[in-house]
Amino acid sequence: MRVLVADKISEEGLKILGNQGRIEVDYRPDVTADELPDPFAVWAFPEVIKDAAGKDVLCLAGGGSQQSVAFGLLGCRVSVLDISEAQLARDRMAAQHYGYDVVTVQGDMRDLSAFGNASFDLLYQPISIVFVPDVRWVYREVARVLRPGGIYEVWHCNPTTAAVELDNPASGWDGVGYRISESGRAKVVRRGSDGYETFREGEPIGEFNHQLSEILNGLVESGLAIQAVSEETDESTEFDGPLEPGSELHKRSIVSLYFGVLARKLRS
Ligand SMILES: C[S@@+](CC[C@H](N)C(=O)[O-])C[C@H]1O[C@@H](n2cnc3c(N)ncnc32)[C@H](O)[C@@H]1O
Repeated sequence: MRVLVADKISEEGLKILGNQGRIEVDYRPDVTADELPDPFAVWAFPEVIKDAAGKDVLCLAGGGSQQSVAFGLLGCRVSVLDISEAQLARDRMAAQHYGYDVVTVQGDMRDLSAFGNASFDLLYQPISIVFVPDVRWVYREVARVLRPGGIYEVWHCNPTTAAVELDNPASGWDGVGYRISESGRAKVVRRGSDGYETFREGEPIGEFNHQLSEILNGLVESGLAIQAVSEETDESTEFDGPLEPGSELHKRSIVSLYFGVLARKLRS
């Protein structure tokens, strides 16, 4: 096991997935490559995957195979770093199933010392930076391992609507709309004495709400120039068709819960 930073944050990260974890991931080894969605139809920033063949790509804190499959099938040299060996096993299973190579590294997203300076053309980070309190710790390492001109695509929770995502009866569909009942300026996600998630009181659950200024200024300070931003909206192709009020997709068609930032490492 290669977890160089072993502390409360990496311990919490390990608890996220799997049978005991908070998030269940559906892994479907029976799906053939032809049945997978066309990445150019679903990718928020199609320019990232245009001409991706042959590029060195790191899926950062992105185990589970959802992203490594796309890059592997596009002909990239793909590596995955994740704190969870169970997640990385899914990346290896998928690579074997679809027939490409993958390098998996168990580690903490705050410490990319497994990789040399300027090792990658592209870093893709799905929603996972929520598990560290300070985005800058990750950005510094991202800037180091990216080649000059290299691309970093990173997905974040939207701090202005993060409260809607809390597993909390005060945050859901109230018959008219989605309630935002807590301040988006909170830092730490907690579990209150009633068992529900809140920003206000209770035990920290290991997730953090980052402010827009940290998210965006942190990139700029790390030498990563912002190229584009994408919000999930009801225009997204995923959200076609009538949606059940209160369902996850309906919520996400109304409230933009996530956004992606595309940044490029400056050449000097
Ligand atoms: C919500 S999943 C995102 C990845 C997945 N491919 C997806 O699309 O859903 C969050 C990932 O972050 C990983 N993780 C949590 N804390 C971490 C840490 N400190 N360092 C590296 N990975 C971490 C988890 O193991 C998990 O695989």
